[in-house]
Amino acid sequence: DAFELEEMVRAVEVTKAGFEDIIRILPRAVGHRRGERVIEGAFRAVAREEGNGEGYETIAASGDHANTLHWIDNDGEVREGDLVLVDAGVEVDSLYTADITRTLPVNGRFTEVQARVYQAVLDACEAALARANQPGCRFKDVHDAAMGVIAARLHEWGILPVTPEESLASEGQQHRRWMPHGTSHHLGLDVHDCAQAKAELYMWAELEPGMVFTIEPALYFKEEDMSIPEEYRGIGIRLEDDVLCTEDGNVNLSAALPRTVEGIEEWMAKLAK
Ligand code: GLY
Ligand code: MN
Ligand code: MN
Repeated sequence: DAFELEEMVRAVEVTKAGFEDIIRILPRAVGHRRGERVIEGAFRAVAREEGNGEGYETIAASGDHANTLHWIDNDGEVREGDLVLVDAGVEVDSLYTADITRTLPVNGRFTEVQARVYQAVLDACEAALARANQPGCRFKDVHDAAMGVIAARLHEWGILPVTPEESLASEGQQHRRWMPHGTSHHLGLDVHDCAQAKAELYMWAELEPGMVFTIEPALYFKEEDMSIPEEYRGIGIRLEDDVLCTEDGNVNLSAALPRTVEGIEEWMAKLAK
């Protein structure tokens, strides 16, 4: 309802402020032996000052740590030239939470290969958003749209050992080696809201006005993965937005946090001043 939406919008706004403090503190994170904790601490300060706290444990994953799902140890260094994946959400006083991920180049600029992988993830996110806007879209269709882009790019880069069609078939799924989780979950009072709902009311249900859900495609290329070209190893990227379904289509509630390669670089440059 309207009250809940106001709370969700507020949760996203405060989360944006938290990400901006993270960007400002990155130079200190780089100089610290546990730079990931510096990031976690900066976000927690905002979450506690402006809301009830964090909606879930902040993931601050630099370099290869981004390739460990739910990396919450956050005890690693943050190195120049690496990407840092931050998945964090403020829970406001009413207990509604945001759930946002941005993957930031620590020194403010993506390398060519980092940007290439980032763009694939962004394109997957855009494909999912576009699919969600089509009438009759089911929750599961949003994921399938994102995976279509992921499989196509992995194939283009010579990584996928089969065709995209074979990989996308239910008996295939080879692309899951590099993107093993779902693309979306419902969001609200719980970060994984209504996770126990029956499949026919969740995965197989059509999107309905008033629903809030995430879109969070990713690509994870582990440092140790010898099946991929060396240039990709150690890169882990996720992009997570919070989306509201309305009568007039979907609204990306977290669009105010920059999400393109150029947008992120400009955002970081502005905040570094
Ligand atoms: N932050 C947990 C998730 O993205 O699902
Ligand atoms: Mn999520
Ligand atoms: Mn998340």
